[in-house]
Amino acid sequence: MSFYRNRVYPHIVTVLGNPKPIHKIRQRLLPQAQGTVLEVGVGPGVNFPYYDPAKVKKLYALEPNPGMVERAERQRCQTKLDVEFLGLPGERISLPEASVDTVVSTFTLCTIPGVADAIRGIGHVLRPGGRFLFFEHGLSPDIRVRRWQERTEPLFQWAFEGCHVTRDIPALIKEGGFRIEQMETGYLARFPKSGSYYFWDCQVKDDLVSQLISLNNKLDLLSPDLVHGDKERAEVQERRESLYAEIKHHRAKGHEGKPCPAARKA
Ligand SMILES: C[S@@+](CC[C@H](N)C(=O)[O-])C[C@H]1O[C@@H](n2cnc3c(N)ncnc32)[C@H](O)[C@@H]1O
Repeated sequence: MSFYRNRVYPHIVTVLGNPKPIHKIRQRLLPQAQGTVLEVGVGPGVNFPYYDPAKVKKLYALEPNPGMVERAERQRCQTKLDVEFLGLPGERISLPEASVDTVVSTFTLCTIPGVADAIRGIGHVLRPGGRFLFFEHGLSPDIRVRRWQERTEPLFQWAFEGCHVTRDIPALIKEGGFRIEQMETGYLARFPKSGSYYFWDCQVKDDLVSQLISLNNKLDLLSPDLVHGDKERAEVQERRESLYAEIKHHRAKGHEGKPCPAARKA
């Protein structure tokens, strides 16, 4: 564990991580968390004071950096939350399937190396209809800012332990099986624009798309010439095709973003 990663980086995140415009959005977003909550990459525990302890039954605080956990432990003592730390990376969430009501991620999806795996893992532990509250920064829609983001990416990666400013976070979340319920975007600081294009609000786990992803994963695992025969493979394929047709039909009718009745049948 390097001195920079364990001591300097946690200090930088603590000092720079909550300027006024960001504080205001945390204040709006985090009281929406309820029930069993998983926060991915809690860092120094900056979000703890924003949760409503009357609504949060339990908070699983996932964080792989021990220097961050030390700071988060101190922050936890200032709240009434029931916090359990998970010293794991977000690519290896150790909670059971559908066991969590709310997942929270603030400025973490930019840093996780295996971000697609982490989002899949979030979808796995979140119960159907559960909410994913996020507040992240990433790829700007403005081409000139994008060019700066590409140029300055190595600097961000070096200073902020692997932070990517060019990730299209909403697209990644959608690909992971979530439907966008609402989202706000904008620059929250005038400078540097390359690091301050933000996305925030809430995604709802999309049952149909999640099921499709899990069937795709199953198909990948089913090798026709190993233990499973062609029959099981054909069955999974058939279920996948009919689910896919349902989703297409639902979207063709202009219902994207609304719950699909087929979700209950499937
Ligand atoms: C910029 S900090 C954000 C901290 C805090 N969530 C906040 O809002 O200020 C990014 C956090 O992601 C954590 N992180 C890095 N790699 C990770 C991984 N693979 N899985 C989960 N968290 C990770 C870092 O240790 C750090 O605490």
